[in-house]
Amino acid sequence: MPDMNRHLDSVGKGFTDFLTPPPEGVIRFTVGQPDFTTPEGIREVAIQSLRDGETSYTRPSGSEELCRTVARFLDERCGIEVGWEDVVVTPGCKQALLYALMGLGNPGDEVLLLAPAWPTYDAQIRLIGMTPVHVPTHRPSFHPDMEALEAAVTKKTKFIFINSPNNPTGAVYTPQETKALVDLATRHDLWIIDDMIYATMVWSDHPYTSPSTIEGGWERTITIGGWSKSWAMTGWRLGFCAGPPEAMRALHLCQTSAATHVPTFTMKAAAFALFDDAGRLPMHNAFAERREVVFEELSNIPQLSVNKPEGAFYIIIDITATGMDDKTFARRALSEAQVQLIPASLMQGGEGYCRISYATNIDNIREGCRRLRQWLENITEGQ
Ligand SMILES: Cc1ncc(COP(=O)(O)O)c(C=O)c1O
Repeated sequence: MPDMNRHLDSVGKGFTDFLTPPPEGVIRFTVGQPDFTTPEGIREVAIQSLRDGETSYTRPSGSEELCRTVARFLDERCGIEVGWEDVVVTPGCKQALLYALMGLGNPGDEVLLLAPAWPTYDAQIRLIGMTPVHVPTHRPSFHPDMEALEAAVTKKTKFIFINSPNNPTGAVYTPQETKALVDLATRHDLWIIDDMIYATMVWSDHPYTSPSTIEGGWERTITIGGWSKSWAMTGWRLGFCAGPPEAMRALHLCQTSAATHVPTFTMKAAAFALFDDAGRLPMHNAFAERREVVFEELSNIPQLSVNKPEGAFYIIIDITATGMDDKTFARRALSEAQVQLIPASLMQGGEGYCRISYATNIDNIREGCRRLRQWLENITEGQ
């Protein structure tokens, strides 16, 4: 058999082992997707596009209307200034991330990740022969540790990935922290890949801050987001990237080489979705309420400690006081408490923590936390 990509063996499986659909009755705190169907208005627009026969090849970056709408959304909702011609609509945010690495980097480059980081970054970086450098964040806040980041920079460092609001930690970086990250990137001439897919889901006092809005940031930031989370559109596979024209030419080339474009009949619906607040806000408000409930419920379990999540729909729990490591905790929680969660050591730097996704209804959240409390109580009594 001919040789294969020599990096394949180093690519991890992410959360796969702990995402297996569990038996009926198990409370599933693992799935990182909204438990909602895409709002009806958005679906109707796509249906109409199909009825209208919008089924042919079109502009690779996405229709002019769609790219203009993404640019307007980024400007009006996030303060990010990009030309509509410097927007590329991609098959999911994931593919945009890969384009950024492929288009702007070279094998051998090092990429700074704020650990624990969503595992796809590590996988993509390794797959194309770059090296992920996992730099631990501060505990228990999971906010950037600038000294550690500075110390991790080498001559080979080419990128820094920022993901705020963060999966898996729920942290939202402050404007001052984002500025410090931009300053670091500027000092060392790094590309900033800003995965802002959870940007509308902020529960903290400070909003999502785009590095591109900070002096020195605009010319080195690729803003990457998508429809999956805020609009419950995971299966549509729609994401976007935007940034300075020179860089976007490279990402555009990746898109024309790899995908041509996203399905034509999704484009009007995607444009409609971005300003469909009537469709989005009920889901947004549900997540805000669940965040309160999950925090309160977990705070009442003496063996666990939690920070109030600042954004996205994840909460990370410190399980070290139970005496178990996080994988043992997750395995036992599944078999003994019928609760499925993600051990955070599946990501470098997550050892001792588990991630809960609260993209499930409030009854499930209460019941899952009740089971965890009861299980841990029984274990403690038995000791
Ligand atoms: C941080 C982060 N970025 C990107 C994605 C994937 O987005 P998409 O569905 O648009 O590929 C996820 C999904 O879990 C995520 O958590």
